[in-house]
Amino acid sequence: MAAARRPLQFFLGRVSRGTRRSYGAVPEGSSVLSSSASQDLINLEYERSAHNYHPVPIVFSQAKGATIWDPEGKKYLDFLSAYSAVNQGHCHPKIIKALQEQAERLTLSSRAFYNDKFPTFAEHLTSMFGYDMVLPMNTGAEGVETALKLARKWGYEKKKIPKDKAIIVSCCGCFHGRTLAVISMSCDNEATRGFGPLLPGHMKVDFGDEIALGKIFKEHGDRIAGFLFEPIQGEAGVIIPPDGYLKAVRDLCSKYNVLMIADEIQSGLARSGKMLACDWEEVRPDVVILGKALGGGVMPVSAVLADKDVMLCIRPGEHGSTFGGNPLASAVAIASLDVIQEEKLAERSAHLGQELRHQLLKIQSKFPDYIKEVRGRGLFNAVEFNSRAMFPISAYDICLRMKDRGVLAKPTHDTIVRLTPPLNMSLDELQEGSKVLQDVLEHDLPKMQKDKPEKVSAATSTTCDRCGRNLY
Ligand SMILES: Cc1ncc(COP(=O)(O)O)c(C=O)c1O
Repeated sequence: MAAARRPLQFFLGRVSRGTRRSYGAVPEGSSVLSSSASQDLINLEYERSAHNYHPVPIVFSQAKGATIWDPEGKKYLDFLSAYSAVNQGHCHPKIIKALQEQAERLTLSSRAFYNDKFPTFAEHLTSMFGYDMVLPMNTGAEGVETALKLARKWGYEKKKIPKDKAIIVSCCGCFHGRTLAVISMSCDNEATRGFGPLLPGHMKVDFGDEIALGKIFKEHGDRIAGFLFEPIQGEAGVIIPPDGYLKAVRDLCSKYNVLMIADEIQSGLARSGKMLACDWEEVRPDVVILGKALGGGVMPVSAVLADKDVMLCIRPGEHGSTFGGNPLASAVAIASLDVIQEEKLAERSAHLGQELRHQLLKIQSKFPDYIKEVRGRGLFNAVEFNSRAMFPISAYDICLRMKDRGVLAKPTHDTIVRLTPPLNMSLDELQEGSKVLQDVLEHDLPKMQKDKPEKVSAATSTTCDRCGRNLY
């Protein structure tokens, strides 16, 4: 399953060598603010913006490739890539050029009229992924909503599901976004509590369990319009399904006439070392949802791909978005796709991912008590810690220390750190990132454990409100 090994240098030629994290190395033309600027901005945001995030306290002021500068001029390495929206690296020159050129010509027509960019984008995207048609949207959640509506519409028109009886099956631990329809499938109590009533018409199944899926399809197949899933669960902690699962899903969906809907918003566009994570088992979903890196980290662009027999179930007036398919987004998306292809980012991701996991496994062998598992595909990776050995330190605490040492990673749940750098990161930078993790475990962790009060967290339920299964 692993891609054939090629020398790493083959993929690294065009990328500048990594530089040490240091102060003062801000690109020309940028202004370095006083040392309290970051804190002032954090305070201002806290005061004036909803508290719907719990960010790692670092302020991005400028970025290039995999490097971030804060307002004080301190340099960091990005190991999150804005949740994989910046696979091509920050401010990629080709994508920025497309943005600038298009911005000076035409930015928005709305789909009330045609524009001279969207058809080219549609042609580009559909031929690249081998589908008849695309429905363009903006954010990932809108892409998922679109796919859900499409599946229901197809279910009623083509599968003849009785009116208002369509079911979408999704996976425990899934993450597909934050809208009401989408959180109605969520197993994350924080995402759902206080937002009811949730939308009906959903059923849950364990991710990676083809037998359970077959059972649900057998019992309810005549009402099931679609099976929505992430081929690799990102927010759940980079969970990779067992070998053969994707093929089994394909077979079951075909057998029971259920649309196989792959949410490739995070796993797709070269992140996992293939253009789509479904390519790992060479399966073709009926519906593919793309987002994040489709906009090259520059603007929100999402898209739903399907063949005509499915896509044409939606007719004029039944679905849309003022900004979906706008010429600016179309120009940016064309450039974003070109960069992925021209720079062979899928191959880079596959090879660099092997290298990163090699380094992480070495760290695990040094700290077997702390690290429970290293897993990933391509540059879609996670380190899962052993909560008992780490107690009372969380993955968030580890990310804070990594930040202090110049590397930006994101915790997911209490025990998992996700490592998903831009795909054009250099080998030196990659090694620097894993060295920082090692330094934190070696030099910081013992003191952190000594210093942090052993506060017992407020009693929160560890079972999912929706399906009653144990959560992480
Ligand atoms: C798999 C998946 N689907 C959907 C979304 C939602 O995308 P957005 O935040 O652009 O709405 C995300 C975001 O992280 C995601 O990872």
